Amino acid sequence: MSIVIRREQPGDSEAISSILESAFEGSVESQLVNQLRVNQATELSWVAELNGEVVAQILYTPSQIHSPSGSGEETQCLNGLGLAPLSVLPKYQNQGIGSLLMEETLKELENNEHDFIIVLGHPNFYKKFGFTPAVEYNVRCEFEGIPAEAIEEAFLILWKKVPALKLEEGLARYREEFYES
Ligand SMILES: CC(C)(COP(=O)(O)OP(=O)(O)OC[C@H]1O[C@@H](n2cnc3c(N)ncnc32)[C@H](O)[C@@H]1OP(=O)(O)O)[C@@H](O)C(=O)NCCC(=O)NCCS
Repeated sequence: MSIVIRREQPGDSEAISSILESAFEGSVESQLVNQLRVNQATELSWVAELNGEVVAQILYTPSQIHSPSGSGEETQCLNGLGLAPLSVLPKYQNQGIGSLLMEETLKELENNEHDFIIVLGHPNFYKKFGFTPAVEYNVRCEFEGIPAEAIEEAFLILWKKVPALKLEEGLARYREEFYES
C-alpha cells in the first residue's frame, strides 16, 4: 500500500467532495469545503493519495478564541486553527490513513505561529495526537441547535504554545462559513 500525503491541488476538488459526501453521508460538509475554497480559505488542506487515488482529506482554517482580558470591556484574542473536516473514504477507514494525515499535518504545522488547534470530534481518536477537552481550559464553542453538553464532550484543543493557557473564560469561533450551513 503506497500512501502519499500532499497539499490539496487544483483538480482535487471533485475527489474531495466525493470523500466528504460518502464519509459524512450527506452534502453539508462538501458544500462547506467548497464555500471555503471559493473564499480562499483552503490553504491548509492536505489529501492522502493511495496508489494514485485521493482517498482522504484534512482541512485547517483560521479560528480565534476570544477571552475577556479582565480589564474593562477589552477582549483578548488568540489566533489558532480549526481542524475540520477530516474524512477518509469509507472503504479505506480503520486502516491508519486518518491517523497518518493527522501525524503528517501536525508535523507540518509544528513551527507555525498559531496558539492552538481546536477540533469538534471523537475524543478517543484525537487524544492520540495530544488533544484534550477544551473545557479543562475554560474554552467552549457554540453551534446553534447543538446542546452545550454535547459540544463540551467533543470539543478538544491542542495548545501549540507551552504552557497551555488556562483562561478565565474563552469562546472559540471558527470561520463564519461554519455557522452558515
Ligand atoms: C474518523 C476518521 C477520520 C478516522 O480515520 P481512519 O483512517 O478511519 O482512522 P485510523 O485507521 O487512522 O484510526 C482508527 C482509529 O480511529 C477510531 N475511529 C474511527 N472512526 C471512529 C468514530 N466514528 N468514532 C470514534 N473513533 C473512531 C477507531 O476506533 C480506531 O481506534 P484504535 O486505533 O484505537 O482502534 C474516519 O473514520 C472517517 O472519515 N470517519 C467518517 C467521518 C468522520 O467522522 N470524521 C471525523 C469528524 S471528527
